Amino acid sequence: MDDIFSRLENLKKERNAVILAHYYQDPDIQDVADVMGDSLALAQHAVKTDADVILFCGVHFMCETAKILNPRKTVILPDMNAGCSLADSAPKEEFKRWIESYPDHIVISYINCSADVKAMSDIICTSSNAEKILNSLPKDEKIIFAPDKYLGSFLKEKTGRNLLLWNGSCQVHEIFSEKELVKLMTRHPLAEVLAHPECDENILRHAHHIGSTTSIINYGAKSNSNTFIIATEPGVIHQMEKANPRKTFVPLPSNDGCACNECPHMRLNTLEKMVSALENLTPEITMEEELRLKSLAPLERMLALS
Ligand code: 13P
Ligand code: SF4
Repeated sequence: MDDIFSRLENLKKERNAVILAHYYQDPDIQDVADVMGDSLALAQHAVKTDADVILFCGVHFMCETAKILNPRKTVILPDMNAGCSLADSAPKEEFKRWIESYPDHIVISYINCSADVKAMSDIICTSSNAEKILNSLPKDEKIIFAPDKYLGSFLKEKTGRNLLLWNGSCQVHEIFSEKELVKLMTRHPLAEVLAHPECDENILRHAHHIGSTTSIINYGAKSNSNTFIIATEPGVIHQMEKANPRKTFVPLPSNDGCACNECPHMRLNTLEKMVSALENLTPEITMEEELRLKSLAPLERMLALS
């Protein structure tokens, strides 16, 4: 009987499929992916792939973005329940009412949001291009930034812009423990702290480098340090260890000793669900064309500015 890896390989050929995967996926999934990336790189790849089927191992908003950018492709995800607490923190109707009360502001939304929120936004950004996109706007522009309040506060500080922030957050990044971080820094005094900007300021203030998953991975490879404390979802450590076998990467735990620094949504995807998705071409992302076109415009502005 074929093992799961050869079944995946055969199905991929039969379907002319490409497997895109985010760095927060289980190591097994990362190892079978054709393309790995942060949100920006995966969106960029979704535009240019010539595969007929995109099997997107990530969360719902990422797959939705691939569909918006590439409507003629079949976009499937292993588990339709793989959502995102940050995207869920901006419900459509509430968000609509809020932005309507600031008609003189433009709306910049982080890509971690639903297609409905994208459709109400002027420009989308990711953690790797947010600063550049904000700096491309006139200094006196009135700007709403949504949905992540932590990334928003970080960008306020970095760019000096007076951003109006939506009160959203990521359930994984907001509960990293500063107390555990200080303990780890004491235990590894030469370690550099690498953090994702979705973390609270109490974590970011200790960081030697703050950036997207890709930029954290690249920084770990280039730095002369040998030990790193990783303040993001620990899935990134798989790529870091593969590329730098002599370096040590220590995952930062969450508050109260809770082992919940793995994203529960990302981790719903499994190799078995990938096989089933390719066999049945489901769960599939579908979308009304009107919504797709409205959400495409701010995404295209982002890609043009990236
Ligand atoms: P990146 O774009 O940095 O990969 O971030 C995605 C994400 O969901 C972080 O929680
Ligand atoms: Fe969403 Fe946070 Fe998971 Fe990223 S880590 S997908 S922001 S819940």
